[in-house]
Amino acid sequence: MPKKQDKNRIVSTKESAEEVAFEKSLRPKRLSEYIGQNKVKDNLEIFMAAAKKRQEPIEHVLLHGCPGLGKTTLAHVIANEMGTNIKVTSGPAIERAGDLAAILTNLANGDILFIDEIHRLNKVIEEVLYPAMEDYALDIVIGKGPSARTLRLDLPKFTLIGATTRVSLISSPLRDRFGATFRLDFYQDEDIKKIIERNARILETQIEPIACGLIAQRARKTPRVANRLLKRVRDYAQVKADGKITEDLAKEALSLLEIDELGLDEIDRKLLKTIIEKFSGGPVGLNTLAASTGEDMDTIEDIYEPFLMQLGFLNRTSKGRTATKLAYEHLGFKPRLDNQQNPLI
Ligand code: ADE
Repeated sequence: MPKKQDKNRIVSTKESAEEVAFEKSLRPKRLSEYIGQNKVKDNLEIFMAAAKKRQEPIEHVLLHGCPGLGKTTLAHVIANEMGTNIKVTSGPAIERAGDLAAILTNLANGDILFIDEIHRLNKVIEEVLYPAMEDYALDIVIGKGPSARTLRLDLPKFTLIGATTRVSLISSPLRDRFGATFRLDFYQDEDIKKIIERNARILETQIEPIACGLIAQRARKTPRVANRLLKRVRDYAQVKADGKITEDLAKEALSLLEIDELGLDEIDRKLLKTIIEKFSGGPVGLNTLAASTGEDMDTIEDIYEPFLMQLGFLNRTSKGRTATKLAYEHLGFKPRLDNQQNPLI
């Protein structure tokens, strides 16, 4: 089945090309400007300060967390703080071992190589990374069969920053070669509010604090979604009024986007309604749920479910997905009486 998460979905956590440029303009440069994720920031601060004191590049870092939480932004912040260059690529973009060899041999001492979606690197390429990460060496096989020999090339001392939404798919030999692993969590609403305020300031858009709160409430605890909503509400305020985002204008713009007050859109509601109406609240297997809703399995698992679980609307159990009592209430269904097969939490 094709990947189906459409770019037009306002609360989508996938990033379009236009958005990459927009986000880049808003991206914090220093750790002190990076809002939220305090535990990660505290650890990173020590990690970087120690490397600076030793005058060494930082160890390889693995960042994981749901899409849109700021992994790429954080990698750029690290490069800025360390005063180093950063080269950006992604797992699917590296198709052959030669592609990776070309990237690695073009790095300079201290450079950061950022590989997004690192869980999508293929096995053969991953094996090129092992000696590169461990010994700063590139092993090249010359010839075939019994006369084949390995030639070892020295690489510059670089830092790999890998990012993934699926840490469980990273093989243990690769995982073991990272000096530090940091998990980005969903943001507190207060932090999302601060991000919106900061970005409105950068965009020179006036916004009332209440309007900021309304947007934050619908942003799925995710900066990328917050930025997208801010952009759409700013457009609305510009077209309908003088550009200042007031409470009323924010309410109108957000209701036009059909996102409910918790940030759920049509697809989230469809998923929950399907579990409730077609499968009596579950448990229903992921593939059955995907087939019943016409959504892609990976997209359900990576994008919709983490947020629905965070809200306490959905549970993943060994028997399948279940909708919780809170989901029933939110969608206006009469809460089911619990039974043995179908625990509602
Ligand atoms: N933009 C995206 N993530 C951010 C964060 N954590 N702080 C500030 N701006 C951001």
